[in-house]
Amino acid sequence: MDTHNDAQWWKGTIIYQIYPRSFKDSNGDGVGDLNGVIEKLDYLQHLGIETIWISPIYPSPMADFGYDISDYCGVDALFGTLEDFDRLMNEVHNRGMKLLLDFVPNHSSNLHPWFLESRSSKDNPKRSWYIWKDAAPDGGPPNNWLAMFGGSAWQWDETTSQYYYHGFLSEQPDLNWRNEAVQEAMLNVMRFWLDKGVDGFRVDVIWHMVKDELLRDNPVNPDYTPEMATYNQLLPVFSTDQPEVHRIINKMRTLLDHYKDKVMIGEIYLPIQRLMAYYGQDDSGAHMPFNFTLLETPWDAKAIGLAIDQYEGALPAGGWPNWVLGNHDQHRVLSRVGAAQARVAAVLLLTLRGTPTMYYGDEIGMSDVKIPPNEIRDPQGLNMPEKGLSRDPARTPMQWDGTTFGGFSTCQPWLRLAEDHKDNNVASQMAYPQSMLNLYRKLIALRQSSPSLKYGIYRPVLANSQLLAYIRQAENAPGYLIILNLSDSPAPFLPPVNLSGEIIFSTNDAGVGEFLTQGFEMGANDATIVEIKERP
Ligand code: NOJ
Repeated sequence: MDTHNDAQWWKGTIIYQIYPRSFKDSNGDGVGDLNGVIEKLDYLQHLGIETIWISPIYPSPMADFGYDISDYCGVDALFGTLEDFDRLMNEVHNRGMKLLLDFVPNHSSNLHPWFLESRSSKDNPKRSWYIWKDAAPDGGPPNNWLAMFGGSAWQWDETTSQYYYHGFLSEQPDLNWRNEAVQEAMLNVMRFWLDKGVDGFRVDVIWHMVKDELLRDNPVNPDYTPEMATYNQLLPVFSTDQPEVHRIINKMRTLLDHYKDKVMIGEIYLPIQRLMAYYGQDDSGAHMPFNFTLLETPWDAKAIGLAIDQYEGALPAGGWPNWVLGNHDQHRVLSRVGAAQARVAAVLLLTLRGTPTMYYGDEIGMSDVKIPPNEIRDPQGLNMPEKGLSRDPARTPMQWDGTTFGGFSTCQPWLRLAEDHKDNNVASQMAYPQSMLNLYRKLIALRQSSPSLKYGIYRPVLANSQLLAYIRQAENAPGYLIILNLSDSPAPFLPPVNLSGEIIFSTNDAGVGEFLTQGFEMGANDATIVEIKERP
């Protein structure tokens, strides 16, 4: 069994991501805010959530909806004030819950005072806080690097006749993390929020922070196909994931370790072997590099089983696993796997070994919402319209009740609500025992009361190709056998010899209270949890 203690609360918690624009609008401007989050803390507590991660709330021109920050130590008026933040912090802590902020160190807004200074002249002291380069001999950008949101990653700036680098929008210039003054300024930002009492950070695009010193051209991606984002034309081997980044992450970690019981989660989209380096040598990096395996693996029992084994097998000694089922950059889980399998996915997320991260609204089965072209707000969607890459569909307002604006707001929200919001919402699902919401509540309660599900080992169990089965077992605690049918037809399951147990949970409510039999058949789209015990 893994060791765990109070300082490692993040091993036994469940993280719930709030996209603040879309969670709850308390002041009737159509955009969610901090007081809205406070209003809904009781709901989260009722759901069983202990840790909230809130996407950026800082002052921002909102070119990338808060991921372009113009003041790292404030709150955007759209979301409230620093006093509202303090109140939120207290309300969270009074409930015994934790609050994680989104820290965005890779880039600021182009309207951040640091960048305004930096661009003002070549000899400004902040010049080297960003990445400036002369044009190539032909007048074009200094190298071939591409921006995530389309086009070259270099923006020509007339004032000083140089290019600056931006890995995302041109409104998001990358900070130069090779500069120690930048490092110190950003560590001070972390100190500011840690002193206020936040419990840790989700660190945005942590693997982008350092770039090749020589700014060498990225190689061509031989696997590029036209439906991919243009960014994928090249392999970002020189613009991301540089070895020097680990020293910087270690500085952040050292700072966190000076405070008590804080956690750092890194956002990293990399193949598993590269991802593992972000735990750092001897636990000196991020506590949890986000694991996006479930977002990237085809929804197929064999593929998922293999991906889990690969991830478990690649973890460094002492590295704590984590699993993510959705976030504000991805399609909703229900739209990826379908309504029936969304329940199976919930069981998977909440019974795997490692801290689960849920995305707001997934607990009521919110799906991607079709946004008409003239209502698209996401810059990724607007910049590459022919590719259908807008992230708006997964960012629509939370569906609280059946009133006109879904209980989210008193006016037309910034992004349209799902058409089904009148029937499909928190209020209607609370009242219906078989709802997705009640399924999540049950699973969360089970996980949080069970040492085996929180901390126990993961052991795969052989099953036919439609099924994924595994055991979770901690010492001196009841163990569980979990059987998931990832297909839409029934499948026989042969329990391991000498294993007996009682079915305590099924998404189809099938067989609950009965003992597992040799000729056990899993229903289509069913997920079953068996408590391992002797037959009476
Ligand atoms: C990752 C965030 O999750 C995404 O929403 C954002 O657009 C980029 N980083 C740029 O900050």
